[in-house]
Amino acid sequence: MRGEDFDFLSRTVRERSGLQLTQDKSYLLESRLMPVARRFVAKRLDEFVNSVRQRQDQERLKAITEAMTTNETLFFRDAKPFEQFKRVVLPALLEARAAQRAIRIWCAASSSGQEPYSLAMLIKEEGLRLAGWRFEILATDLSQEMVDRARAGAYSQFEVQRGLPIQLLMKYFRQIEDRWQLPQRADLFRPADQGAGARAGRQAAAQRRHALSRRRRDRARRHRPLRADAQRARHLPPGPARRRACPRSDLA
Ligand SMILES: C[S@@+](CC[C@H](N)C(=O)[O-])C[C@H]1O[C@@H](n2cnc3c(N)ncnc32)[C@H](O)[C@@H]1O
Repeated sequence: MRGEDFDFLSRTVRERSGLQLTQDKSYLLESRLMPVARRFVAKRLDEFVNSVRQRQDQERLKAITEAMTTNETLFFRDAKPFEQFKRVVLPALLEARAAQRAIRIWCAASSSGQEPYSLAMLIKEEGLRLAGWRFEILATDLSQEMVDRARAGAYSQFEVQRGLPIQLLMKYFRQIEDRWQLPQRADLFRPADQGAGARAGRQAAAQRRHALSRRRRDRARRHRPLRADAQRARHLPPGPARRRACPRSDLA
């Protein structure tokens, strides 16, 4: 790929999503963008990139950015963050929001939906402890294809075998032929605005850094008392900024 094409593409993707592509990833650009070029009836990638650069066509720019996302996910991914949510974050939030009895959660890069659905199941499983509380989950993703998949709430046998306890599969899913179907909650899912892509990307990166440093801290203080954890967790969500970013939406 020509240097100027790489520069144009990596700048486009960074500005619209926050994703950083280094020169050693140019093979990835080529392999992922060739199908996009074909979809827009271009025979060669350089021809496609050239026409996008000249016309700045929003549909093509969006398609390029979406093609560069990596959508790997699974139910209760890595287990630990969900354990931490249940053991540390949720108790701290219940204490902090006792007056309102309402909690809003934003999954800022929800891919095909396994993460927000895992959270929804975890919360449902808390049952009586949360009776009378109102939970809202909003899940957004840059990729429209992923948002559509998440809204459909239908997963393959392979997908439900990754991370999902069998009891939860039996309790919350219905088997329809070779798919496992959740009650559909299309309103939980929204496409992330690519116009705000860089900002969203920075937020996602900050969240990743935060999760990483939290994991490091957790490792260091594994034997310290729970109370100290709960106090620290109170500082987690940037409240008003996140509230502005998350319109209302009910949890199933
Ligand atoms: C590797 S998946 C992670 C999914 C899920 N959070 C998990 O941990 O299982 C990353 C997702 O982030 C999305 N993404 C990347 N940049 C984004 C942005 N700026 N705003 C919203 N979503 C973004 C991608 O489309 C992709 O689906």
